[in-house]
Amino acid sequence: MRLSRKKQPGGQAGWAGQAGSQSSKPGQAGSRASQSGGATQSGQSTSPAQSAQSSPAPQPEGRKPLISGNWKMNLNHLQAIQLIQQLAYALEPDDYTQVEVSIHPPFTDLRAAQTLLDVDRIPIALGAQDCHQEDSGAFTGEVSAGMLAALDVKYVIVGHSERRQLFGETDEVVAAKLKAVLRHQMVPILAVGETMSERLEGTTQDKVASQLASVLKGLPRDQRESLVVAYEPIWAIGTGRSATPQDAEEVCAFIRAQLGQMWGEATANQVRIQYGGSVKPIGIADLMAQPNIDGALVGGASIEAADFARIVRYRFEG
Ligand code: PGA
Repeated sequence: MRLSRKKQPGGQAGWAGQAGSQSSKPGQAGSRASQSGGATQSGQSTSPAQSAQSSPAPQPEGRKPLISGNWKMNLNHLQAIQLIQQLAYALEPDDYTQVEVSIHPPFTDLRAAQTLLDVDRIPIALGAQDCHQEDSGAFTGEVSAGMLAALDVKYVIVGHSERRQLFGETDEVVAAKLKAVLRHQMVPILAVGETMSERLEGTTQDKVASQLASVLKGLPRDQRESLVVAYEPIWAIGTGRSATPQDAEEVCAFIRAQLGQMWGEATANQVRIQYGGSVKPIGIADLMAQPNIDGALVGGASIEAADFARIVRYRFEG
């Protein structure tokens, strides 16, 4: 899977250097190769159990912006390869220095995506959209966190509103999934957010506070700072109707304040908070300019390479 991309000064070797410079941010977890439970290029994998014993807890990333593409149930593994190649072509080494990028393809695409990212040294983090809370067992159709860790998955979305609404996931289930992700040294992206009727009733903060409290209760101290929270108002998801930067900032600031009450301000200031819901290239710069918005969880626009690249490169959007 050779990747043809624009020649950079210094040539293709620049990718390896980029991966290194990306990890120079305070508290950065390190290169893909050092991730837990990773399959090697020869295809050998460490077992989830092995990786759980031998790997340190996920390290916090600081507040480096994180732009994540949630592909949902779109694109097979061949289409995934094409999209990743287009993205790698569109993004410049400096983009990865400024912004951390993760993609969250369907499960069936993960192995192909991992191989391409590894072989071509593309510094995009691999993510998943969900996992089961148990490590193994008679759960037909499910995929465990350990299986994802063995594929070098770094980020796992938990509690997405589509999982909550369409598949009946409760806060208790989401909490168990979050713990499973952390048990396998990956980073959870915890999605929270209100419905339109909750917003109209003025109960947005109550809803978000209760989701945070029930899912994050009892989270050990060393697992708090690396957490990512995605504020996704349900009425904005897939509707083309994004929250205004001011409304999004208000809730993201509230989320940080809640985390501060639970864990102290210093820890809350380390946690990255994304906004999600109809994020498009137009408007991303204003969202990212908000003090408490540290990234975006992007659905529809993440499966169009040109749109997603423009979102990652929000610093050039007017
Ligand atoms: P959307 O999806 O960008 O298509 O609104 C966001 C999400 O569901 O994470």
